[in-house]
Amino acid sequence: MCGIIGYIGGKTATPFLIEGLKRMEYRGYDSAGVAVLDAGAIATRRAAGKIARLESALAAAPIAGTTGIGHTRWATHGPPTERNAHPHLSADGTVAVVHNGIIENANALRAALRDAGYEFRSDTDTEVVAHLVQELFEGSLEDTVLAALAQLEGTYGLAVVSSRDPGKIVAARKGSPLLIGIGEDEHFVASDASAILAHTRQVVYLDDGDVAVIERNGYRVLDANAAPLARHVHKIDWDLAAIERGGFAHFMLKEIFEQPQTVENAMRGRLILEDGTSKLGGLNLSHEQLMAIDHIIITACGTSWHSGLIGKLMIEELCRIPVAVEYASEFRYRNPIVSANTLCIVISQSGETADTLAAMREAKRRGARTLGFVNVVGSTIAREDDGGIYLHAGPEIGVASTKAFTSQVVALALFALKLARKRGLSVTRGMEIAQALHALPAQIKEILDRAEQIEHIAEEFKRAPNFLYLGRGVNFPVALEGALKLKEISYIHAEGYPAAEMKHGPIALIDEMMPVVFVAPHDAVFDKVVSNVQEVKARKGNIIAITSRDEAALKGLVDYEFRIPETVDLLMPVLASVPLQLLAYYIAVKRGSNVDQPRNLAKSVTVE
Ligand code: F6R
Repeated sequence: MCGIIGYIGGKTATPFLIEGLKRMEYRGYDSAGVAVLDAGAIATRRAAGKIARLESALAAAPIAGTTGIGHTRWATHGPPTERNAHPHLSADGTVAVVHNGIIENANALRAALRDAGYEFRSDTDTEVVAHLVQELFEGSLEDTVLAALAQLEGTYGLAVVSSRDPGKIVAARKGSPLLIGIGEDEHFVASDASAILAHTRQVVYLDDGDVAVIERNGYRVLDANAAPLARHVHKIDWDLAAIERGGFAHFMLKEIFEQPQTVENAMRGRLILEDGTSKLGGLNLSHEQLMAIDHIIITACGTSWHSGLIGKLMIEELCRIPVAVEYASEFRYRNPIVSANTLCIVISQSGETADTLAAMREAKRRGARTLGFVNVVGSTIAREDDGGIYLHAGPEIGVASTKAFTSQVVALALFALKLARKRGLSVTRGMEIAQALHALPAQIKEILDRAEQIEHIAEEFKRAPNFLYLGRGVNFPVALEGALKLKEISYIHAEGYPAAEMKHGPIALIDEMMPVVFVAPHDAVFDKVVSNVQEVKARKGNIIAITSRDEAALKGLVDYEFRIPETVDLLMPVLASVPLQLLAYYIAVKRGSNVDQPRNLAKSVTVE
């Protein structure tokens, strides 16, 4: 979603702003702009569409100043046009604002400002902030921004510059992430660490309610009363290579191929093979608290919700504790049953998804303990949960989530294993699962080594208008995830169903035009899946099967087959999802889609 970058230092600001915006392109956007303090006035350049158009505007009319802010916008209030692109200027042009989030009382403020004589030039909620700062300007920019914030309702990450108080950027955070980057003789503000990683790894994450004054040689963090606050300086532990494509055609392909490593990283130092359990340092749950859990709620969105479905089956099977999996967007608005012995597991790659964060806060408010299974270190969910497990998958840039998903499933397995062993799972069974986890990285590599087989299948089906994905048990969520991947990046309509449920409706869709992907490894329900395969074949469906053995029962039924190695049933999803990621990827590429930035999608959904 929207991205914010700000630079203040001794060099020309625009190259830093453009680079930062490009590093955040993956988040999804539809217009971009910059505002720079230049020779005592603010100059802006904005453009609808890709950053390349903003670069052309800057090339045609360069700006020279050394203090500036930039933004990529993902339209919410008003269409993605140049006039709605950020930065927005105040009526007199002395204030420029970039904003992520939503100002909920924008209509009321707009009406009041109109009465005071302000004319609005955009459809955005953000423009009210620029006029409001002009209207209230008194003393310093930070004092004025603090006064303006007192009138704002809603969520924001804001960066503001003014020609009336140059030499600083004032930033404010409420519900939308922001961080300060500390460089030498220069400082940055950004909504995403990737935007500044090329220049510094020293960052300060702002908390909700913080206002920061960022200058060339320093920064201050203030509370709502302008009192100074101490904030810890963090060191980002990944480098530039992690956010570059490294020879791969797309970030998504790079991330799919990183999975042997990322799955390994998710387990590093955590798996205890000899005891058949795991060591999870960050749970912040005592032995007594772990033993007292009588109900688990897993809440998440999208792909993370799919890993939650797998987590449910793992936890129920191994720990015998009932688990409910809830869409975060639904959970937050109903009246869920939560007690002091309820554990709420929140799964999120970004750690910033607005619905997931709100669901976690709601569970907390109702007395549950919360655990965040999060990838982005320092993200809001990671900072607000009671404890958790970092996924350690490294930055995921491709909009379609791949490596984060497999790491989530592994993290859930580690958690289920630990809890189960405490609650009576035998050491033998624990060791079997631990060994199986340990073997996963090499097994994923073995699948990836045969990626061209999937590419061949993709070639056959690249023109299909619809796809059906079917699986049973723990592989039903894999079917859902396979279908989601395909529709996200190839725009082919795809559905995931429990294989046996198909005959209660979707079977009507099957004819010789319909490709049906069966996730059918040799597990406890394999024979049942074979019956479902027969039902599809009898209606002339085109069958692609993800299997794990040379199955006599499938002879003559399956049109295309891809074999995955075998593991314990509960971990099959980690292996079975990889060929489905590749299938979606290759089909999308063959159809000419923009795989890393699919239409309408944002990497991190920070609005409701
Ligand atoms: C799908 C995808 C989304 C996210 C969802 C939750 O490929 O990426 O469905 O999984 O928006 O995002 P996080 O995990 O960041 O909370």
